[in-house]
Amino acid sequence: MLIALLPGDGIGPEVIAQARRVLDALAIDGLVYEEGLVGGAAYKAVGHPLPAETLDIARRADAILFGAVGDPDCDALERHLRPEQAILGLRKELTLFANLRPAKMFPELADASTLRPEVAAAIDLMIVRELTGDVYFGEKGMRKTADGQREGYDVMCYSESEVRRIAHVAFRTAQARAKNGGGGKLCSVDKANVLETSQLWRDVVIETAAEYPDVTLTHMYVDNAAMQLVRNPGQFDVIVTGNLFGDILSDQASMCVGSIGMLASASLDSNGKGLYEPIHGSAPDIAGQNKANPLATILSAAMMLRYSLNLPAQADRIEAAVAKALAGGARGADLGGSMSTVQIGDAVLAAL
Ligand code: IPM
Ligand code: MG
Repeated sequence: MLIALLPGDGIGPEVIAQARRVLDALAIDGLVYEEGLVGGAAYKAVGHPLPAETLDIARRADAILFGAVGDPDCDALERHLRPEQAILGLRKELTLFANLRPAKMFPELADASTLRPEVAAAIDLMIVRELTGDVYFGEKGMRKTADGQREGYDVMCYSESEVRRIAHVAFRTAQARAKNGGGGKLCSVDKANVLETSQLWRDVVIETAAEYPDVTLTHMYVDNAAMQLVRNPGQFDVIVTGNLFGDILSDQASMCVGSIGMLASASLDSNGKGLYEPIHGSAPDIAGQNKANPLATILSAAMMLRYSLNLPAQADRIEAAVAKALAGGARGADLGGSMSTVQIGDAVLAAL
């Protein structure tokens, strides 16, 4: 099984290194790694944020473990050369349309949430974010209005088939979680009171629901969802939403469980091939200082074992080791502690 390792920019290489140590410690038979340049690091080395060689490794791989992209040195570049284009390009080229972003409260971190502990304790949700459509990939540009002003535009659009395939993933996710004691509830988040895109989204989700009579489907406007996520996050099981709303709500959910440094993600195609990445970015302000929390990346590696490599028992081992390390006080600065990236990696390895 081939794993593409794409560390990228900022803290990416540091957090990927810790995930790699954890994977190595599991001594899984037949895992091989190929490393590729991506993001600002790739631009600086070869002039493009997503070089053809990297895309080729990603295509050949069974799964991709991704660090982060984003580099202030590249802020002035044209959009198609910016580091972020690397992750957007990988998602699009590999049709990684289903982004799973779990947010679950580790009891050990109850005091780290900005929410009251009794409110935060109830968080165990999964955001299913559509990842290859929406305003991210619609027509975009800069033009002049009739009176000579500059005008930027980004078209928001979704086709029926794009909504249907992410709806199926979301309903199946709700069913799978129900078996593990969840509620089998799906909340579809949109802005159907204003947007045509959202009206279609809602209609197609309702049509798809006919195939999943056991799942309880509700709908919520995105502004209300943002409010409910801090008011009573325990009400949510699975949330399905579009690319832009999912981007925003998943950052919000991450802070509710203590730190964005904790949230892992999987981006899947329709055959279970996936890219796995922490949802935090490259954090250039702390890059190279051995300060970043590697747990989101380590938990992303666990998701990789579960979803792409069919090794759920090994995934469980990693997650249990992270919980044990947290219980033993492994905290970086993001969680009010003082442990370094490597020390947190050490703690997870010891727990393993
Ligand atoms: C994310 C990030 C990306 C996104 C950026 C880096 C393009 O914020 O994965 O959530 O907006 O999707
Ligand atoms: Mg984001």
